[in-house]
Amino acid sequence: MNRICEILNIKYPVIQGGMAWVADASLAGAVSNAGGLGIIAAGNAPKEVIKEQIRKCREITDKPFGVNIMLMSPFADDMIDLVIEEKVEVITTGAGNPAKYMDRLKEAGIKVIPVVPTVALAQRMEKVGASAVVAEGTEAGGHIGELTTMVLVPQVVDAVSIPVIAAGGVADGRGMAASFALGAEGVQIGTRFICSDECSVHENYKELVLKAKDRDAIVTGRPTGHPVRTLKNKLAKEYLKLEKEGAPVEELEKLGAGALRMATIEGDKAKGSFMAGQSAAMVNDIKPCSKIIEDILKEAKEIMPSIEL
Ligand SMILES: Cc1cc2nc3c(=O)[nH]c(=O)nc-3n(C[C@H](O)[C@H](O)[C@H](O)COP(=O)(O)O)c2cc1C
Repeated sequence: MNRICEILNIKYPVIQGGMAWVADASLAGAVSNAGGLGIIAAGNAPKEVIKEQIRKCREITDKPFGVNIMLMSPFADDMIDLVIEEKVEVITTGAGNPAKYMDRLKEAGIKVIPVVPTVALAQRMEKVGASAVVAEGTEAGGHIGELTTMVLVPQVVDAVSIPVIAAGGVADGRGMAASFALGAEGVQIGTRFICSDECSVHENYKELVLKAKDRDAIVTGRPTGHPVRTLKNKLAKEYLKLEKEGAPVEELEKLGAGALRMATIEGDKAKGSFMAGQSAAMVNDIKPCSKIIEDILKEAKEIMPSIEL
């Protein structure tokens, strides 16, 4: 049996990426109902907001689902308390190193799957007891590392013995088959799920993903050390211009303040930050999560009949 399915008690090794302001109970519940692992993204939200999302998700599905904790969040400590109180089965962590929380999480029986951009962090995570790692390439949406999925995944696979989940650029069965060819035992998918019926973001967000072409998912924030992949629009262009001029971090932060809300809730095409991966160019329709997963699995199986799903 596929090790990811076994560890997570799910039917298919397809994990929906935690996406701040995008991945709520509605999306996570739908993915879990379809046999994958849905994930509620905590982002920078306070404890009460995510507590309510966990409760909502439990109403939508009786299958396992997880919570993604963004370690840069001012509420990261609260979020660890919450997942322990709520007995969430699995968490993924983004933008940092969760080592200091591992003992408490493991004691509570929570599986931890850190998202890693390097081989060294993957090895450290295995040592402190991670159940698996997500090796995320720079093609992905949101906060990113330097290495591509194509080179990162096989190196992480060679360096650890826990299962590796590939992320970054997987939007169809070809990407899934390629990930398995590189040694991954599961895939984590973000951008493709934005264009699902159950994703609650503003219609304009979905429209921008549908329209995106190959070079439209650009990177801002490189000078600050926190690069983020987002769709090219007025805000992103202004941001890049200021960066080039060497604007102080405070000015950049001011420009970006509230931009995720403006994208996801208000659908403001000019002022919103529409985070998405390079795979946005490969997303051409909106469909239910169950159909997204079914189509990906079917195509992956056709390409690689030996794939263990
Ligand atoms: C809109 C958006 C928001 C994201 N927010 C987070 C986040 O809060 N925490 C995290 O660990 N990863 C975040 N990610 C990364 C995803 O969880 C996932 O690893 C990534 O989207 C996979 O690459 P793909 O977009 O090419 O499928 C985000 C991605 C997107 C597109």
